[in-house]
Amino acid sequence: MTTTLITGANKGLGKETARLLVGVGHTVWLGARDEERGRAAAAEIGAHFVQLDVTDDASVAAALARIEAEGGLDVLVNNAGVAMRAGAAGGEALDGPSALAVFDTNAVGIIRVTEAALPLLRKSDNPVVVNVCSALGSFWATHEPSRPASRFPAIVYGSSKAAVSMLTVQYAKAVREVKFNAVEPGITATELGGGGIESHPGRPAAVSAEVVARLADIGPDGPTGTFQEDAGELGW
Ligand SMILES: NC(=O)c1ccc[n+]([C@@H]2O[C@H](COP(=O)([O-])OP(=O)(O)OC[C@H]3O[C@@H](n4cnc5c(N)ncnc54)[C@H](OP(=O)(O)O)[C@@H]3O)[C@@H](O)[C@H]2O)c1
Repeated sequence: MTTTLITGANKGLGKETARLLVGVGHTVWLGARDEERGRAAAAEIGAHFVQLDVTDDASVAAALARIEAEGGLDVLVNNAGVAMRAGAAGGEALDGPSALAVFDTNAVGIIRVTEAALPLLRKSDNPVVVNVCSALGSFWATHEPSRPASRFPAIVYGSSKAAVSMLTVQYAKAVREVKFNAVEPGITATELGGGGIESHPGRPAAVSAEVVARLADIGPDGPTGTFQEDAGELGW
């Protein structure tokens, strides 16, 4: 039996990844910062709700303590993320507080949750971490003219996702007993950016979640220290 925690899973890619993993037999802890929306999503797909705000150390510690008490953890999917904030003149907000908020959720949140989860993961026979990244966090894709990421300006969001890429590389080197991979889910219709249901353009979240679920369900011989998308490995 595989037990999996997914952060930011009350909607979007996180929820669809949770649905797919429940479908292949994982016991899924659906992490959400809002209790009401998290409980509703968990009930809908047959997961267990756990309150978890990735920017709040106490919330992260309480969530992992509960998961440990209920039997431990094999797989962590660091999915919670926020888009760039809108600036007063349109475009991306490039002030300190806005940048700190984006980095706090997208990058520091991964360190908080991963560090709290590692003692549990180290007890698993097949410990796996998936970091939901973005092509905007790939130096290769942002320099490759054929890739949309090379044409989409995202100073704060893109650099926060580049931090997610390097967190994946560094954790994979530092913690050899756990497999760490980054995923580019593809451009997906979600609420990323806060404009309402499917306000972010793209393909359905249920389609993009397949590559996230695939990396969450790798066996003991699966990859580590890679960046993956639908078609296979993506350049860093
Ligand atoms: N959509 C795309 O095209 C795309 C492309 C590449 C990568 N991604 C990445 O995919 C991941 C999921 O995004 P999405 O597109 O599914 O957007 P979404 O529908 O907005 O989902 C984001 C999730 O993260 C949660 N979240 C935000 N801040 C949090 C916090 N402090 N603690 C816990 N949860 C928090 C949100 O919870 P609330 O409901 O409470 O806000 C929500 O459940 C993100 O990491 C995003 O950067 C998305």
